[in-house]
Amino acid sequence: MSYISIAIDGPSGAGKSTIAKAAAKRLGYIYLDTGALYRAVGLYMLRQGIDIADQLSVGNALGGIEIELKFKGGRQRVILCGSDVSEAIRDNKVSKAASDVSAYASVREFLFSLQRDFAENTNVVMDGRDIGTSILPQAQVKIFLTASDQARAKRRYKELVRKGQQVEYDDILEEMRQRDKNDMTRSASPLKQAEDAILIDTTENDLEQSIEVVMQLIKRKLNL
Ligand code: DC
Repeated sequence: MSYISIAIDGPSGAGKSTIAKAAAKRLGYIYLDTGALYRAVGLYMLRQGIDIADQLSVGNALGGIEIELKFKGGRQRVILCGSDVSEAIRDNKVSKAASDVSAYASVREFLFSLQRDFAENTNVVMDGRDIGTSILPQAQVKIFLTASDQARAKRRYKELVRKGQQVEYDDILEEMRQRDKNDMTRSASPLKQAEDAILIDTTENDLEQSIEVVMQLIKRKLNL
């Protein structure tokens, strides 16, 4: 039996995870947040005191990592070496570490089969940066979600403040621009729109409107 894969790629703050999660729920598919895997690798390196700028040390340390994904009530939990790090990986320091380690081919290779194998066993909505281009090039639906950098920074700022983190909007905007640049200019699977992906710009839309647009597109593509 072959399963349906829906790939949603785009920069951070475009609404990918919320939209992908909502779409998966409506379709009865599993939602896989692949950024969480890169975050788990980044967190591991920070906790082990590994110099993230040192590609060789990061590559050597990968052998000590065990990542397991669990799904509780439709919610993805990330288990790193036996402990649940689903909250810890959302820290702002981990965002930067994840972006840095994600540029290394060794890290991308390390996480490749985990993602690819997942889609072989279930219907999935997967979000990330290279799902449509590299992980699931055969996905039946490919969406590239984006929004202006100011709109994305504003959303991320509100999210962090809601979680009680003390942050400045200007810092978030600057970090986001830096992360976009890292993600788009790295040589290993850079963030880019797959040729057969449909571009959706969420700058002017609220989340509900964006979910609607995405659902219409999925239904049309899958003849639902
Ligand atoms: O989506 P996110 O912000 O949780 O992702 C964290 C970092 O991981 C992001 O800066 C880029 C990287 N990433 C990636 O390179 N490829 C993916 N498929 C998902 C995330």
